[in-house]
Amino acid sequence: MIERTLSIIKPDAVAEGHTGDILADLEKAGFKILALRMTRLSQAQAEGFYAVHRERPFFPSLVKFMTEGPIVVMALECENAIARLRELMGATNPANAVEGCIRKRFATSIERNCIHGSDSPETAAVELRYCFSTLDLL
Ligand code: CMP
Repeated sequence: MIERTLSIIKPDAVAEGHTGDILADLEKAGFKILALRMTRLSQAQAEGFYAVHRERPFFPSLVKFMTEGPIVVMALECENAIARLRELMGATNPANAVEGCIRKRFATSIERNCIHGSDSPETAAVELRYCFSTLDLL
């Protein structure tokens, strides 16, 4: 099934100059980039994006991290995009990620984990709508 998912190259990876490598990995893996924008989240935007985590102890630190610098937000499309992106990214904690995956190569901690990918079709729909308009995705 052809699916769409939302991915974010996080501030750590953009600052370290890994944007090009991550985009190349995604394209080589067969993802079509439907929309892409470099932006910087405000505190309110980061809190809104991660609202499902607002009760977690790491939430304030996560919001601080996600607002520290520019990010690259992308709408991606391919067969089974949600699961395939999560496989390509690897485990949330790079210490548990398999060799060769994006987080093993570019992430430095469970928080500063270089890339985000939607975790379900429902989340993907919400996150795509949060970051892009319908016209962006045509
Ligand atoms: P992401 O896939 O974007 O979803 C939520 C983010 O919260 C996650 O990647 C990490 O950046 C961060 N996160 C998840 N778990 C923890 C944790 N235990 N401690 C700190 N940050 C975390």
